[in-house]
Amino acid sequence: MSSVSPSSRSLHRLVYFSRSLLRPEDLETGVEAIIRRSIDNNRIDNITGLLFCHDGWFLQALEGPALAVQTAFGRIGRDPRHEGVKVLGAGPAEQRLFREWDMCARTLSMVDQEVSRTLARRGAFDPARLSAEAATRLLTTLRTVRADAARRFVA
Ligand SMILES: Cc1cc2nc3c(=O)[nH]c(=O)nc-3n(C[C@H](O)[C@H](O)[C@H](O)COP(=O)(O)O)c2cc1C
Repeated sequence: MSSVSPSSRSLHRLVYFSRSLLRPEDLETGVEAIIRRSIDNNRIDNITGLLFCHDGWFLQALEGPALAVQTAFGRIGRDPRHEGVKVLGAGPAEQRLFREWDMCARTLSMVDQEVSRTLARRGAFDPARLSAEAATRLLTTLRTVRADAARRFVA
């Protein structure tokens, strides 16, 4: 008998934001290192998601078995590369919105920069004012824009 309850295995999604403590000159390599580690760990943990970095903020969705998401988020919360980690929303999810490779895309890719520029034109970005739904919408939009760009690049 497994000691893991069914609810700890059911699909959960958690969306949070935090303030980056990476120096601007270290941002690109820092984010790449985070993503490299995340791909390896998340694959093992059956976690998917997407990390967006904009104007010194991190915004990330994590989805997978509840216990795995909680454990990964515990590790992420203790990471000295960011501070002020705040959960925007967490709870059961009906289906995955992100795929394994959505996390893989380099966060400072051209499309991400374009999305960043669009956000910047709308004024100061304040993730604390986003609802969980709005944050998830932003991340799924980014997923779509990245996928479109990847298709155009391959075509
Ligand atoms: C903004 C941010 C997002 C992160 N996202 C993930 C993630 O999705 N998965 C993960 O395993 N680690 C993530 N990390 C890294 C973890 O905080 C931690 O360094 C890593 O999981 C430790 O892995 P290890 O025990 O295999 O060395 C993230 C870190 C930061 C700062």
